[in-house]
Amino acid sequence: MKIAFVGKGGSGKTTLSSLFIRHLAAAGAPVVAIDADINQHLGAALGLEESEAAALPAMGDRLTLIKNYLRGSNPRITSAETMIKTTPPGEGSRLLRVCEPNPVYDACARPVELDGGAVRLMVTGPFTDADLGVACYHSKTGAVELCLNHLVDGPDEYVVVDMTAGSDSFASGMFTRFDMTFLVAEPTRKGVSVYRQYKEYARDFGVELKVVGNKVHGEEDLDFLRAEAGDDLLVTVGHSDWVRAMEKGRPPRFELLEEANHRALHRMREAADATYEHRDWERYTRQMVHFHLKNAQAWGNERTGADLAAQVDPSFVLDESVAAPA
Ligand SMILES: Nc1ncnc2c1ncn2[C@@H]1O[C@H](COP(=O)(O)OP(=O)(O)OP(=O)(O)O)[C@@H](O)[C@H]1O
Ligand SMILES: [Mg+2]
Repeated sequence: MKIAFVGKGGSGKTTLSSLFIRHLAAAGAPVVAIDADINQHLGAALGLEESEAAALPAMGDRLTLIKNYLRGSNPRITSAETMIKTTPPGEGSRLLRVCEPNPVYDACARPVELDGGAVRLMVTGPFTDADLGVACYHSKTGAVELCLNHLVDGPDEYVVVDMTAGSDSFASGMFTRFDMTFLVAEPTRKGVSVYRQYKEYARDFGVELKVVGNKVHGEEDLDFLRAEAGDDLLVTVGHSDWVRAMEKGRPPRFELLEEANHRALHRMREAADATYEHRDWERYTRQMVHFHLKNAQAWGNERTGADLAAQVDPSFVLDESVAAPA
Protein backbone atom coordinates (compact mmCIF):
# COMPACT_ATOMS: atom_id res chain seq x y z
CA MET A 1 0.00 0.00 0.00
CA LYS A 2 1.15 3.46 -0.80
CA ILE A 3 0.12 6.24 1.53
CA ALA A 4 0.82 9.97 1.30
CA PHE A 5 0.63 12.70 3.90
CA VAL A 6 0.03 16.11 2.38
CA GLY A 7 -1.18 19.47 3.63
CA LYS A 8 -0.27 23.05 4.28
CA GLY A 9 3.19 23.89 5.58
CA GLY A 10 3.32 23.41 9.33
CA SER A 11 0.01 21.52 9.51
CA GLY A 12 1.66 18.43 10.99
CA LYS A 13 2.39 16.24 7.94
CA THR A 14 5.73 15.12 9.26
CA THR A 15 4.46 14.57 12.78
CA LEU A 16 1.49 12.51 11.64
CA SER A 17 3.51 10.55 9.06
CA SER A 18 6.02 9.67 11.76
CA LEU A 19 3.30 8.58 14.17
CA PHE A 20 1.64 6.50 11.47
CA ILE A 21 4.98 4.89 10.60
CA ARG A 22 5.54 4.11 14.27
CA HIS A 23 2.04 2.65 14.47
CA LEU A 24 2.72 0.33 11.52
CA ALA A 25 6.15 -0.68 12.82
CA ALA A 26 4.73 -1.44 16.26
CA ALA A 27 2.26 -3.80 14.57
CA GLY A 28 5.13 -5.56 12.82
CA ALA A 29 4.26 -4.33 9.32
CA PRO A 30 7.08 -3.76 6.82
CA VAL A 31 7.47 -0.06 6.03
CA VAL A 32 9.45 2.06 3.62
CA ALA A 33 9.25 5.67 4.85
CA ILE A 34 10.02 8.41 2.34
CA ASP A 35 10.68 12.05 3.13
CA ALA A 36 9.69 14.06 0.05
CA ASP A 37 8.79 17.23 1.89
CA ILE A 38 10.45 20.58 1.24
CA ASN A 39 11.48 20.69 4.88
CA GLN A 40 13.26 17.41 5.50
CA HIS A 41 12.26 16.50 9.04
CA LEU A 42 10.99 12.95 8.86
CA GLY A 43 14.27 11.44 10.06
CA ALA A 44 14.25 13.65 13.14
CA ALA A 45 10.58 12.87 13.77
CA LEU A 46 11.51 9.19 13.70
CA GLY A 47 14.09 9.84 16.39
CA LEU A 48 17.31 10.32 14.46
CA GLU A 49 19.89 12.70 15.84
CA GLU A 50 20.56 15.74 13.67
CA SER A 51 23.91 14.36 12.54
CA GLU A 52 22.35 11.00 11.64
CA ALA A 53 19.58 12.70 9.68
CA ALA A 54 22.09 14.90 7.87
CA ALA A 55 24.10 11.82 6.88
CA LEU A 56 21.17 10.13 5.12
CA PRO A 57 21.87 9.59 1.42
CA ALA A 58 19.76 11.86 -0.79
CA MET A 59 17.70 10.16 -3.51
CA GLY A 60 18.04 13.34 -5.57
CA ASP A 61 21.81 12.78 -5.75
CA ARG A 62 21.39 9.19 -6.90
CA LEU A 63 18.92 9.69 -9.70
CA THR A 64 21.17 8.18 -12.35
CA LEU A 65 21.73 5.04 -10.32
CA ILE A 66 17.98 4.75 -9.69
CA LYS A 67 17.15 5.22 -13.37
CA ASN A 68 19.74 2.76 -14.57
CA TYR A 69 18.56 0.11 -12.14
CA LEU A 70 14.87 0.59 -12.97
CA ARG A 71 15.22 0.68 -16.73
CA GLY A 72 17.05 -2.66 -16.61
CA SER A 73 16.96 -4.14 -20.10
CA ASN A 74 13.85 -2.29 -21.24
CA PRO A 75 14.61 -1.71 -24.94
CA ARG A 76 12.34 1.35 -25.06
CA ILE A 77 14.46 3.24 -22.54
CA THR A 78 17.92 3.46 -23.96
CA SER A 79 19.64 5.71 -21.41
CA ALA A 80 19.23 7.30 -18.01
CA GLU A 81 19.39 10.70 -19.74
CA THR A 82 16.18 10.04 -21.65
CA MET A 83 14.40 8.65 -18.60
CA ILE A 84 12.31 11.37 -16.99
CA LYS A 85 10.40 11.23 -13.74
CA THR A 86 7.27 9.93 -15.44
CA THR A 87 8.89 7.32 -17.71
CA PRO A 88 6.77 4.23 -17.09
CA PRO A 89 8.09 0.68 -16.69
CA GLY A 90 7.65 -1.85 -19.48
CA GLU A 91 8.92 -5.24 -20.54
CA GLY A 92 12.50 -5.55 -19.30
CA SER A 93 12.21 -2.90 -16.56
CA ARG A 94 13.22 -3.81 -13.04
CA LEU A 95 10.54 -3.44 -10.40
CA LEU A 96 10.83 -2.75 -6.70
CA ARG A 97 9.21 -4.59 -3.82
CA VAL A 98 8.77 -3.31 -0.30
CA CYS A 99 10.55 -6.29 1.24
CA GLU A 100 13.63 -7.14 -0.74
CA PRO A 101 17.25 -6.14 -0.94
CA ASN A 102 17.98 -4.15 -4.10
CA PRO A 103 20.57 -1.61 -5.27
CA VAL A 104 18.14 1.30 -4.88
CA TYR A 105 17.63 0.55 -1.18
CA ASP A 106 21.36 -0.11 -0.79
CA ALA A 107 22.12 3.33 -2.18
CA CYS A 108 19.24 5.34 -0.78
CA ALA A 109 17.63 3.66 2.23
CA ARG A 110 18.81 3.40 5.81
CA PRO A 111 17.25 1.38 8.62
CA VAL A 112 15.71 3.29 11.51
CA GLU A 113 14.98 1.38 14.72
CA LEU A 114 11.57 2.06 16.23
CA ASP A 115 9.66 0.39 19.04
CA GLY A 116 8.55 -2.83 17.44
CA GLY A 117 11.06 -3.04 14.61
CA ALA A 118 13.07 -1.26 11.99
CA VAL A 119 11.72 0.64 8.99
CA ARG A 120 13.60 1.70 5.87
CA LEU A 121 13.94 5.46 5.52
CA MET A 122 14.61 7.20 2.22
CA VAL A 123 14.91 10.96 1.76
CA THR A 124 14.81 13.11 -1.37
CA GLY A 125 17.40 15.48 0.09
CA PRO A 126 16.99 19.18 0.79
CA PHE A 127 15.24 21.29 -1.83
CA THR A 128 16.72 24.33 -3.46
CA ASP A 129 14.89 27.09 -5.34
CA ALA A 130 15.58 25.26 -8.59
CA ASP A 131 13.62 22.24 -7.34
CA LEU A 132 10.42 24.17 -6.91
CA GLY A 133 9.67 24.84 -10.56
CA VAL A 134 6.91 22.97 -12.32
CA ALA A 135 8.83 21.22 -15.09
CA CYS A 136 11.89 20.25 -13.18
CA TYR A 137 13.89 17.68 -15.05
CA HIS A 138 16.15 16.97 -12.12
CA SER A 139 13.25 17.04 -9.74
CA LYS A 140 14.01 15.49 -6.39
CA THR A 141 10.50 14.19 -6.01
CA GLY A 142 11.03 12.70 -9.47
CA ALA A 143 13.19 10.04 -7.84
CA VAL A 144 10.25 9.16 -5.59
CA GLU A 145 7.79 9.13 -8.45
CA LEU A 146 10.00 6.77 -10.45
CA CYS A 147 10.23 4.42 -7.50
CA LEU A 148 6.46 4.47 -6.94
CA ASN A 149 5.82 3.79 -10.61
CA HIS A 150 8.12 0.76 -10.47
CA LEU A 151 6.85 -0.56 -7.16
CA VAL A 152 4.83 -3.72 -6.82
CA ASP A 153 3.40 -3.60 -3.33
CA GLY A 154 1.02 -5.94 -1.58
CA PRO A 155 -1.71 -5.29 0.99
CA ASP A 156 0.24 -5.74 4.23
CA GLU A 157 3.31 -3.74 3.37
CA TYR A 158 3.52 0.00 3.34
CA VAL A 159 5.23 2.89 1.67
CA VAL A 160 4.53 6.10 3.56
CA VAL A 161 5.46 9.40 1.91
CA ASP A 162 5.66 12.73 3.69
CA MET A 163 5.23 15.38 1.00
CA THR A 164 4.05 18.85 0.14
CA ALA A 165 0.80 19.65 -1.59
CA GLY A 166 2.81 21.68 -4.09
CA SER A 167 2.34 22.22 -7.80
CA ASP A 168 5.14 19.76 -8.57
CA SER A 169 3.08 16.79 -7.46
CA PHE A 170 0.11 17.92 -9.56
CA ALA A 171 2.10 18.54 -12.74
CA SER A 172 3.82 15.20 -12.62
CA GLY A 173 1.04 12.93 -11.49
CA MET A 174 2.67 12.16 -8.16
CA PHE A 175 -0.64 12.89 -6.42
CA THR A 176 -2.28 9.94 -8.19
CA ARG A 177 0.29 7.38 -7.02
CA PHE A 178 -1.27 6.52 -3.66
CA ASP A 179 -3.91 4.15 -2.38
CA MET A 180 -4.68 6.69 0.28
CA THR A 181 -3.84 10.35 0.67
CA PHE A 182 -4.14 11.81 4.13
CA LEU A 183 -4.58 15.53 3.97
CA VAL A 184 -3.51 16.98 7.28
CA ALA A 185 -5.52 20.10 8.10
CA GLU A 186 -5.62 22.37 11.07
CA PRO A 187 -9.07 23.79 11.78
CA THR A 188 -8.33 27.06 9.98
CA ARG A 189 -9.39 28.58 6.68
CA LYS A 190 -5.93 28.14 5.24
CA GLY A 191 -5.83 24.53 6.36
CA VAL A 192 -9.05 23.64 4.58
CA SER A 193 -8.27 25.72 1.49
CA VAL A 194 -5.38 23.36 0.73
CA TYR A 195 -7.86 20.51 1.12
CA ARG A 196 -10.25 22.08 -1.38
CA GLN A 197 -7.51 22.69 -3.90
CA TYR A 198 -6.27 19.14 -3.57
CA LYS A 199 -9.75 17.74 -3.94
CA GLU A 200 -10.28 19.78 -7.07
CA TYR A 201 -7.13 18.36 -8.69
CA ALA A 202 -7.90 14.87 -7.48
CA ARG A 203 -11.51 14.80 -8.64
CA ASP A 204 -10.96 13.36 -12.09
CA PHE A 205 -8.36 10.80 -11.04
CA GLY A 206 -10.13 8.68 -8.46
CA VAL A 207 -7.75 9.74 -5.71
CA GLU A 208 -8.79 8.49 -2.25
CA LEU A 209 -8.51 11.58 -0.10
CA LYS A 210 -9.21 11.72 3.62
CA VAL A 211 -8.79 14.68 5.92
CA VAL A 212 -6.96 14.18 9.19
CA GLY A 213 -7.64 17.12 11.47
CA ASN A 214 -4.64 18.13 13.54
CA LYS A 215 -4.22 20.34 16.58
CA VAL A 216 -7.94 20.09 17.11
CA HIS A 217 -9.23 21.10 20.50
CA GLY A 218 -12.83 21.24 21.43
CA GLU A 219 -16.19 21.04 19.72
CA GLU A 220 -15.80 24.28 17.77
CA ASP A 221 -12.70 23.03 15.98
CA LEU A 222 -14.40 19.75 15.24
CA ASP A 223 -17.59 21.44 13.99
CA PHE A 224 -15.53 23.66 11.72
CA LEU A 225 -13.74 20.73 10.10
CA ARG A 226 -16.95 18.73 9.81
CA ALA A 227 -18.65 21.63 8.09
CA GLU A 228 -15.74 22.15 5.69
CA ALA A 229 -14.73 18.58 4.90
CA GLY A 230 -17.95 16.65 5.47
CA ASP A 231 -17.54 12.92 4.92
CA ASP A 232 -13.91 13.39 3.91
CA LEU A 233 -13.01 14.07 7.54
CA LEU A 234 -11.70 10.75 8.83
CA VAL A 235 -10.27 11.49 12.26
CA THR A 236 -8.86 14.30 14.32
CA VAL A 237 -5.78 14.49 16.49
CA GLY A 238 -5.40 16.88 19.37
CA HIS A 239 -2.32 18.42 20.91
CA SER A 240 -0.03 15.60 21.95
CA ASP A 241 2.25 15.80 24.95
CA TRP A 242 3.95 12.68 23.62
CA VAL A 243 4.89 14.59 20.46
CA ARG A 244 6.10 17.50 22.57
CA ALA A 245 8.30 15.21 24.65
CA MET A 246 9.70 13.70 21.47
CA GLU A 247 10.45 17.15 20.12
CA LYS A 248 12.43 17.83 23.27
CA GLY A 249 14.59 14.87 22.39
CA ARG A 250 13.05 12.60 25.01
CA PRO A 251 10.82 10.22 23.10
CA PRO A 252 8.73 8.10 25.46
CA ARG A 253 7.94 4.55 24.41
CA PHE A 254 5.42 4.59 21.57
CA GLU A 255 2.85 2.65 23.59
CA LEU A 256 2.67 5.69 25.89
CA LEU A 257 1.21 7.85 23.11
CA GLU A 258 -2.20 9.17 24.16
CA GLU A 259 -4.93 6.54 23.81
CA ALA A 260 -7.10 8.77 21.58
CA ASN A 261 -4.18 9.26 19.20
CA HIS A 262 -3.53 5.52 19.08
CA ARG A 263 -7.18 5.08 18.12
CA ALA A 264 -6.88 7.74 15.41
CA LEU A 265 -3.84 5.95 13.92
CA HIS A 266 -5.71 2.67 14.02
CA ARG A 267 -8.62 4.15 12.07
CA MET A 268 -6.23 5.62 9.55
CA ARG A 269 -4.69 2.21 8.96
CA GLU A 270 -8.13 0.62 8.61
CA ALA A 271 -9.16 3.26 6.08
CA ALA A 272 -5.97 2.75 4.09
CA ASP A 273 -6.22 -1.04 4.22
CA ALA A 274 -9.82 -0.93 2.99
CA THR A 275 -8.75 0.74 -0.24
CA TYR A 276 -6.65 -2.25 -1.28
CA GLU A 277 -9.77 -4.24 -2.12
CA HIS A 278 -10.44 -1.98 -5.08
CA ARG A 279 -6.81 -1.47 -6.05
CA ASP A 280 -6.90 -1.07 -9.83
CA TRP A 281 -3.49 -1.80 -11.37
CA GLU A 282 -4.73 -1.07 -14.86
CA ARG A 283 -5.88 2.38 -13.95
CA TYR A 284 -2.64 2.92 -12.07
CA THR A 285 -0.64 2.06 -15.19
CA ARG A 286 -2.94 4.09 -17.44
CA GLN A 287 -2.50 7.16 -15.27
CA MET A 288 1.28 6.94 -15.30
CA VAL A 289 1.18 6.79 -19.09
CA HIS A 290 -1.22 9.75 -19.17
CA PHE A 291 1.11 11.92 -17.11
CA HIS A 292 4.15 10.72 -18.98
CA LEU A 293 2.69 11.76 -22.32
CA LYS A 294 1.70 15.10 -20.83
CA ASN A 295 5.20 15.72 -19.46
CA ALA A 296 6.82 14.48 -22.66
CA GLN A 297 4.88 17.05 -24.65
CA ALA A 298 5.18 19.88 -22.18
CA TRP A 299 8.96 19.75 -21.76
CA GLY A 300 10.42 16.23 -21.83
CA ASN A 301 10.78 15.72 -25.58
CA GLU A 302 12.42 19.07 -26.00
CA ARG A 303 14.69 18.63 -23.01
CA THR A 304 15.91 15.15 -23.94
CA GLY A 305 15.77 15.47 -27.73
CA ALA A 306 13.92 12.17 -27.89
CA ASP A 307 10.36 11.11 -28.61
CA LEU A 308 9.43 10.05 -25.10
CA ALA A 309 6.03 8.72 -26.12
CA ALA A 310 7.95 5.81 -27.64
CA GLN A 311 8.96 4.75 -24.12
CA VAL A 312 5.44 3.55 -23.44
CA ASP A 313 5.05 -0.21 -23.67
CA PRO A 314 1.43 -0.51 -24.78
CA SER A 315 0.88 -4.04 -23.52
CA PHE A 316 2.46 -3.59 -20.10
CA VAL A 317 0.36 -3.52 -16.95
CA LEU A 318 2.09 -3.14 -13.62
CA ASP A 319 0.80 -5.69 -11.13
CA GLU A 320 1.98 -8.38 -8.79
CA SER A 321 2.27 -10.97 -11.51
CA VAL A 322 5.00 -9.05 -13.38
CA ALA A 323 7.37 -8.79 -10.42
CA ALA A 324 9.80 -11.65 -10.26
CA PRO A 325 11.18 -12.07 -6.75
CA ALA A 326 14.66 -10.57 -6.58
N1 LIG B 1 -0.67 16.83 17.35
C1 LIG B 1 0.39 17.57 17.71
N2 LIG B 1 0.71 17.74 19.02
C2 LIG B 1 1.77 18.50 19.39
N3 LIG B 1 2.58 19.11 18.52
C3 LIG B 1 2.33 18.96 17.20
C4 LIG B 1 1.22 18.18 16.73
N4 LIG B 1 1.22 18.21 15.39
C5 LIG B 1 2.26 18.97 15.02
N5 LIG B 1 2.93 19.44 16.10
C6 LIG B 1 4.09 20.33 16.10
O1 LIG B 1 3.87 21.36 15.14
C7 LIG B 1 5.04 21.65 14.42
C8 LIG B 1 4.79 21.47 12.92
O2 LIG B 1 4.52 20.09 12.68
P1 LIG B 1 5.19 19.31 11.45
O3 LIG B 1 6.62 19.62 11.35
O4 LIG B 1 4.78 17.91 11.60
O5 LIG B 1 4.40 20.00 10.27
P2 LIG B 1 4.66 19.87 8.69
O6 LIG B 1 3.34 19.99 8.05
O7 LIG B 1 5.46 18.67 8.41
O8 LIG B 1 5.51 21.17 8.48
P3 LIG B 1 6.45 21.56 7.22
O9 LIG B 1 5.52 22.09 6.20
O10 LIG B 1 7.36 22.58 7.80
O11 LIG B 1 7.14 20.30 6.79
C9 LIG B 1 6.12 20.73 14.97
O12 LIG B 1 6.86 21.43 15.93
C10 LIG B 1 5.32 19.62 15.61
O13 LIG B 1 5.99 18.99 16.64
MG1 LIG C 1 7.26 18.44 7.37
